[in-house]
Amino acid sequence: MICENYQEMSRQAARFIAQRILSKPNLILALPTGNTPLGFYRELVRMFKEGLIDFSKATVFNLDEFLGLPPQHPQSFRSYMQKYFWDHVNLRPESCHIPLSLPKDPDAECARYEQLIERHGGLDLAVLGIGENGHIAFNEPGTPFENLTHVAKLSLETRAREASTFGGLDKVPTHAITMGIKTIMRAREILLLASGEEKAAALSRSLKGPVTPETPASILQLHPNLTIIADSLAAKQL
Ligand code: PGA
Repeated sequence: MICENYQEMSRQAARFIAQRILSKPNLILALPTGNTPLGFYRELVRMFKEGLIDFSKATVFNLDEFLGLPPQHPQSFRSYMQKYFWDHVNLRPESCHIPLSLPKDPDAECARYEQLIERHGGLDLAVLGIGENGHIAFNEPGTPFENLTHVAKLSLETRAREASTFGGLDKVPTHAITMGIKTIMRAREILLLASGEEKAAALSRSLKGPVTPETPASILQLHPNLTIIADSLAAKQL
């Protein structure tokens, strides 16, 4: 679906979720952070406040979280989710999941998170953004497609993009816990959001290029139930 602008993309994405929750109130969702979904969360909150969506039976899992930050750090994805979404809708606190940012044993935390998703019966719908380098969640180029939730080393370009919000590159975490490509591909449905000209090349390469770990989002070509909502700038090279 190609939308005229960012606002329309955000609106369509929120309507997509509303439809899914109407047909399955206990939906199990994977959710992204970043700039792209800000408008999407704003719309979801608006629709909730207008009585159009009920999240009381839904469960949400974040795609990823930085390692090494206190959970209340303003740049943690937990803080982001609270600020833009969790605190403004009727999700039950015990139904909001995100990897721990300071786990004693990061690998054990990855296994716990993956098992938690499995125990819920797997993801009904994974909502994704896409990086300029084609990453999905924190699966950077070169990540094996078979990975489940794992500790990922962040690429320099990904860290550089975060530098201004952290107040310097040296303050940006070097690692994160992320759902793996396999975790994401097991979702019964995927919704990818893309906005802005800087995503146009990655989106086109992902959809029209070879399926290769060098472009992590290219694996989505093999998903049986994929919807992409892009604004016209991101869709420019399609
Ligand atoms: P962005 O990040 O929405 O901030 O561009 C998307 C991503 O890197 O997955």
